[in-house]
Amino acid sequence: MSGIQLESILTEARVFPVHEDFARQANLNSEQYAALCRRAEEDPSGFWGDLARQELAWDKPFTQVLDDSRAPFYRWFADGELNVAANCLDRHLSSPTRNKAALIWEGEDGEVRTFTYGQLHREVSRFANVLKKLGITTGDRVAIYMPMVPEAAVAMLACARLGAIHSVVFGGFSAEALKDRIEDTQAKLLITADGGFRAGRVVHLKQHADQALMRDGHSVDKVVVLRRTGQEVDMLDGRDLWWHELMQDAEPQCPAVSVNAEHPLFVLYTSGSTGKPKGIVHSSGGYLLWSALTMRWVFDIKPEDVYWCTADIGWVTGHTYALYGPLAVGATVLLFEGVPTYPDAGRFWAMIERHGVSVFYTAPTAVRALMKLGEEWPGKYDLSSLRLLGTVGEPINPEAWMWYYRVIGKERCPVVDTWWQTETGGHLIAPLPGVTPLKPGSCTRPLPGIFPDIVDEEGDPVQGTEAGGYLVVKRPWPGMLRTVWGNDARYLETYWAKFQNRYYVAGDSAHRDADGYYWIMGRIDDVLNVSGHRLGTMEIESALVSHPAVAEAAVVGRPHEIKGEAITAFVILRQSHVQDDRDRLTEALRQHVSEAIGPIAKPDDIRFTDNLPKTRSGKIMRRLLRAIARGEEITQDTSTLENEETVRQLGR
Ligand code: WT7
Repeated sequence: MSGIQLESILTEARVFPVHEDFARQANLNSEQYAALCRRAEEDPSGFWGDLARQELAWDKPFTQVLDDSRAPFYRWFADGELNVAANCLDRHLSSPTRNKAALIWEGEDGEVRTFTYGQLHREVSRFANVLKKLGITTGDRVAIYMPMVPEAAVAMLACARLGAIHSVVFGGFSAEALKDRIEDTQAKLLITADGGFRAGRVVHLKQHADQALMRDGHSVDKVVVLRRTGQEVDMLDGRDLWWHELMQDAEPQCPAVSVNAEHPLFVLYTSGSTGKPKGIVHSSGGYLLWSALTMRWVFDIKPEDVYWCTADIGWVTGHTYALYGPLAVGATVLLFEGVPTYPDAGRFWAMIERHGVSVFYTAPTAVRALMKLGEEWPGKYDLSSLRLLGTVGEPINPEAWMWYYRVIGKERCPVVDTWWQTETGGHLIAPLPGVTPLKPGSCTRPLPGIFPDIVDEEGDPVQGTEAGGYLVVKRPWPGMLRTVWGNDARYLETYWAKFQNRYYVAGDSAHRDADGYYWIMGRIDDVLNVSGHRLGTMEIESALVSHPAVAEAAVVGRPHEIKGEAITAFVILRQSHVQDDRDRLTEALRQHVSEAIGPIAKPDDIRFTDNLPKTRSGKIMRRLLRAIARGEEITQDTSTLENEETVRQLGR
């Protein structure tokens, strides 16, 4: 891995001290924070055990906190039993929380629907009864391929109520991607909708679902279809059922099934550098504990907050911070069906005013896009309800951080830059808004109980503050992934093998400054981060090569002002297609990738070439391609190159 010798070129010196007003009311103050850190260090069992007892309602108490007998297959609270949906809903019903808004949903067209905790409990119980009737029981996998509507949350919680394992597939993914995920989990049931709305257009979800289930031999018995757009769809007799018909006479009582703390709550797919996306498996007890704790610590959540996480439920951010975390702590969460710029660039700000949002969590890519459209948009709205801002998905450039802080937060609201991953379940490195001075562009310091480090190629801690290294985590934590679905070997190989199971290897490079602040530098593998979403170069390459005109392809990222990274594809055509019209082919290939993976994976530019720079062992030299894609002069050592002429050709 060559990227690790990187020196940080970022010289960000600004520090924003904690606001006293904020600190006074914060869930965690400096003394509490220090005490938590100390306890976590000295008495991890006591630390995690106490938090798990305080934070969650257990049907059967656990007697052991951490079982590391099969490390790195860690088990947390493993003889305890609980139900995640009961923790998110039922336990709030005996308090005034019963009648407060759990979900406020705003549709793209401006329609608003609100569910109190009592109402959401009722809907979830009814849908759990529907699932039961369809033969779903504990441990069955259920695929969910839905737009961002309240029913998606209802479906997830209904699965959790029965101990069925959901696998949500982002509605922007293609039929092909859905098919792969269904195949991998062997889901018995698919829950989808006729279609969804996105930026004024209609997404044909049911049609994609039909394509995904076209071939015989798939695992899905039944398909539940929610009517959202009202568009015409084919309903297959005996297989496809309408959500509203099933719900008509569903009873609103359904006992929650107690499951083991280690019982998988969900599988969620994420890209890696090689092979197909990995099904990341999260537990019930440990995952929920970490979701709830980080809601309190990092988002400083209070009963009176209106909290908005803009992520789609199809991503891990949507799982942890738009659903499980907020409901576990009895918060009011806003869900939004649409995109930041529809119908205009004021949509987010209008919604903050309309719903009185106090805690707002979004992605740097959205901040950059909105920043570009000018201060006049947020200027039109009353944003005084805000008290805390957050970001996630990629490093936020200091300029965008400053804009967010100044224009949206009016220099009143702390900005919490939260570093985490699908695999980590929740935030690992993030500021505590009442404790941590902020530095624009840094995710600051680890949360209590989290022990990261930066190590070199040998696994030794990196000395010095400028030198980057592998970001690793030295101790297990309850919210961590448990394995890769159906593939323990891949879990070991991807996250642990590099340093002989000593650390969890995040796949990011980072450096740490003199104050112990972490600065994420990027991925060390060939993973792209496009608008805060991880995409494997391999997946995009495979998609390109599956097109009849393509013989070989290599995909790299290049910096992009708004998306963070843009996708450049180098393509070698098959002999039979070298005469094809290049513009038409470019469009066809972009479309092809969109169908194979989803529109987010569409290459931004495609360069046709006769050759790719390769090492003598036949490996594509991506760092050269990256330099070429950025239009940089090639100053790198090309002596290991098998075909040096190629680089000169490509550079032209
Ligand atoms: C990768 C994880 C975690 C939910 C969203 C993405 C990058 C994430 C930050 C941040 C710098 C970040 C990392 C990480 N990343 N948050 N605050 N600062 N980089 O989840 O798809 O699993 O991607 O996103 O590279 O490894 P994901």
